[in-house]
Amino acid sequence: MERDVTGIDAIGRTAFAVATLRAAEHRIPEGLFTDPYAERFLRAAGDVLGPRHRAQAFVTLMRTQAVVRTRFFDDHLRAAAERGCRQVVLVASGMDSRPWRLEWPAGTTVFDVDQEPVLRFKSAVMEDHAGLDTATRRAVPADLREDWAARLRSEGFRDDLPTAWLIEGLLYSLDEQASDRLLATVSGLSSPGSTLAFDHFEVGPSLRAATDRISPGLTRLWQTGPTDPAAWLHRHGWQPDLHELADVAARFGRTPHPAYNPGPQTEGRSWLAAATLA
Ligand SMILES: C[S@@+](CC[C@H](N)C(=O)[O-])C[C@H]1O[C@@H](n2cnc3c(N)ncnc32)[C@H](O)[C@@H]1O
Repeated sequence: MERDVTGIDAIGRTAFAVATLRAAEHRIPEGLFTDPYAERFLRAAGDVLGPRHRAQAFVTLMRTQAVVRTRFFDDHLRAAAERGCRQVVLVASGMDSRPWRLEWPAGTTVFDVDQEPVLRFKSAVMEDHAGLDTATRRAVPADLREDWAARLRSEGFRDDLPTAWLIEGLLYSLDEQASDRLLATVSGLSSPGSTLAFDHFEVGPSLRAATDRISPGLTRLWQTGPTDPAAWLHRHGWQPDLHELADVAARFGRTPHPAYNPGPQTEGRSWLAAATLA
């Protein structure tokens, strides 16, 4: 059944683009994870992404980045849960189905933070699957450029507990100052033992050109994010653990599209990171 996508803006619609990549991975037997919900979100969203041929070109370009990061963050969050962390925040969660898809230990709360129309759509699609989530899910409609800490607290977030934060698929749509404000808020809410996982990439000329051919509208959404992710983390008291996307992908037997690989001129690096509060 199609659900209402009214009010989901251009940046919100990128969540469906990521769902396309996860749905493609779900369909292959040797996939790095399963995500039966991605297809469900896409079916419910109708033709929100435009022509199908564009979607296929997009999958070819972006699939490895998205699926490798998904698996990397799945492993990271499972490890945090095994260490006893019971509070997870998915910042800009889009169509991330981890509240349902991952097996959470009893007593875990997953906060699902995104724009209100995105969460309204997601909750409507998933309402038929109530009870499949092993964590308590709290939807937190918020604009991350405003005071979202108050919104998170009002949904029961506790800053005296360690938190596993995930910022996936977001940083490259922020500028340097917005990335700093975001991390200042996350850090102010984090008690010792908290972890922060995120992906980031520099939008180099190859990636920009490749994406422009598929969707100039998407390229227009990209900004710099934190230009030096290690320094960004240090400034806010986090101990960085940065990995090149290509290295993590190789561990899973995958190779990112060349547009994501640092060429000889280091024209566009891509990272996956899991930092701890120092
Ligand atoms: C590329 S999607 C990534 C979604 C998800 N993290 C994933 O990897 O599947 C980017 C998400 O960021 C959200 N987003 C971007 N800017 C935001 C803002 N200012 N406030 C709240 N959410 C925002 C969008 O609504 C969208 O769901």
